[in-house]
Amino acid sequence: MRINGFSKLSKKDKINWLLDKYLDYNLDAQAILLQYWNDNKALQNLHDGFVENTLSNFYLPYAVAPNFLIDAKTYALPMVIEESSVIAASANAAKFWAEQGGFKTEILGTIKKGHVHFTYDGEISNLLVFFRNHRTEILKNIDSLQQNMKNRGGGIKDINLIDRTDKLDNYYQIELKFDTIDSMGANFINTVLEEVADHFNLLAQNELKGNIEIVMSILSNYTPDCLVRASVSCPVANLPKLDGSAKKYAQKFIRAIRIAEIEPYRAVTHNKGIMNGVDAVVLATGNDFRAVEADVHAYASQSGNYASLSHAKIENDQFTFWVDLPLSVGTIGGLTGIHPLVKFSLQLLQNPSATQLMRIIASAGLAQNFAALNSLITHGIQQGHMKMHLNNLLNFLNATDDEKAFAIDYFKDKKIRFDTLKKILKRD
Ligand code: MEV
Repeated sequence: MRINGFSKLSKKDKINWLLDKYLDYNLDAQAILLQYWNDNKALQNLHDGFVENTLSNFYLPYAVAPNFLIDAKTYALPMVIEESSVIAASANAAKFWAEQGGFKTEILGTIKKGHVHFTYDGEISNLLVFFRNHRTEILKNIDSLQQNMKNRGGGIKDINLIDRTDKLDNYYQIELKFDTIDSMGANFINTVLEEVADHFNLLAQNELKGNIEIVMSILSNYTPDCLVRASVSCPVANLPKLDGSAKKYAQKFIRAIRIAEIEPYRAVTHNKGIMNGVDAVVLATGNDFRAVEADVHAYASQSGNYASLSHAKIENDQFTFWVDLPLSVGTIGGLTGIHPLVKFSLQLLQNPSATQLMRIIASAGLAQNFAALNSLITHGIQQGHMKMHLNNLLNFLNATDDEKAFAIDYFKDKKIRFDTLKKILKRD
């Protein structure tokens, strides 16, 4: 069913149109949408305004994982996630590592890149000379755009012409490097790039032999030089024990990581576990989780093979476990000053800078990875997962409070299975 001008309809009319065309005027469907409207009209308007065609609000749990000791400061991490076992896993891992000195982090870079992608059908030597002659002028032209960013210590760090004709006929880039300090910087970078493209094109039309076509000007969400490392370390003897031996535990843990370092099928799942922690904090702090996901997985493939983002070693009986993550996040701009829960998250984190937030997010990812590997190499993943998921299954079966208590007690010392649950609650 097609419609013109849907976005111009009021929220109620949009819902009515959908009820009419897709939902047989089912009033239960309407009630589902309306029950999530916020009574606070100003707050609802704020949320309606984030995107077009808003009908309702979509809740996800907003939770907190306490006891994260990161660089000698203890945080309670705000986490937005729907997966039942993630928060408990985070909290357990954070508690364990807090007793071993906590997470240590290091910022390995803060540079982001953006490109003017263009084609040129003339002599490369002419282009190189032309760019060299106008480089300073092009930079000068965007100086006013970057004044605020410069005042904060950031701005454009470099600009270069890159020849990519080895891969695609006539294809070149103007590559700019940026430090966007506490903002994620997408708007700033894209504004600068578009200005550079316009100016470059204008100069070229007047002075360069051959045709330039600007194909596009856009930041890159791949930020391998905006990188953070989080690590934990302790004497092997302080690790949990496997068959009575901490050394055995450490060796099996490292073997599990080696598998993820060489086997992409395992690496994807392994890294997904890291992202359980990363995405939850990224979402709670109003950052762009699609950008972070794309970035991190591209980084995991940088060797040409998709591989583990985390690594571990034993040296002189000391166990060390670490993760390197490219994280382009901000603590100003975007939703950070608008969404009340995002503002709350940032307050809870003591109003971090973007680099502090990178440190926190990487620690959340490492904690999740530790929790997942700890389960996988010991009792398996299902025990903890199903324990947390039991509540969802009980709700799915519309269990009463008495039935819930009965089921929780029943599964205290047994494997949780949906078919068994249905049987004991007589839902077969
Ligand atoms: C589930 O969301 C995440 C895990 O599969 C991660 C892993 O296997 O390492 C448990």
